[in-house]
Amino acid sequence: MSRRRRLYEGKAKVLYEGPEPGTLVQHFKDDATAGNGEKHEVIDGKGVLNNRISEFIFTHLNELGIPTHFIKRMNMREQLIREVEIIPLEVVVRNVAAGSICKRLGVESGTRLPRSIIEFYYKDDKLNDPIVAEEHITAFGWANPQELDDIMSMAVRINDFLCGLFMSAGIQLIDFKIEFGRLYEEDTMRIVLADEISPDSCRLWDIKTQNKLDKDRFRQDLGGLVDAYREVAQRLGILSEADNALATGPRLVK
Ligand code: C5P
Repeated sequence: MSRRRRLYEGKAKVLYEGPEPGTLVQHFKDDATAGNGEKHEVIDGKGVLNNRISEFIFTHLNELGIPTHFIKRMNMREQLIREVEIIPLEVVVRNVAAGSICKRLGVESGTRLPRSIIEFYYKDDKLNDPIVAEEHITAFGWANPQELDDIMSMAVRINDFLCGLFMSAGIQLIDFKIEFGRLYEEDTMRIVLADEISPDSCRLWDIKTQNKLDKDRFRQDLGGLVDAYREVAQRLGILSEADNALATGPRLVK
């Protein structure tokens, strides 16, 4: 691993040069951060679970004809992906009010939204990823109107798929964050889904108990993060109960 060239290190992932031109290796770390990195912990087993859950979701999306950067999982912590030019936007889809929308608009957490809402945040740690309007995105050239249309229609399709997938596992998809990139192939360019979809980037509530099965367990000091992520993986049929060995080592529950 150390012989590969490290191209980028983020809060929860590292990108290495891939084995072939146009490919990268996406490595899932165990690091959890919140509040733009103010709170940080290493949670043994998180990266392994996110790698598996994200692989499962991206594979299904590829099969549904939603283009993604994902090629294949390589090992416990790594995926082979296509190199894309990341669009500097966090695209958030919300079905139920939770998190920042409650603070910003005074909506009560848990309120079902009359229809799904798509929001955009400009990816800039120094600015704390501010929420932006479509007008800002096209005016500053972060994406053009056609790209923004593609992003929004893919976000709606991804939300439909994920809502059904999680619903069948007894889980309500409250909201999630996705990122997109430009994939250049010969003389064409298309927008594809990039990054990851995992309990780090979604809010997932158990339908029966309303228990949180996502990164809010870390943000709100609820403990049991790895157990919750493992529960999600088991309910999706990714892990059997016997696969607990996937999260080896001491379990940090609190
Ligand atoms: O904090 P907020 O309510 O805006 O988050 C909405 C959704 O986007 C949540 O599922 C959260 O986990 C995800 N998110 C993320 N990365 C960020 C900000 C939010 O994955 N930097």
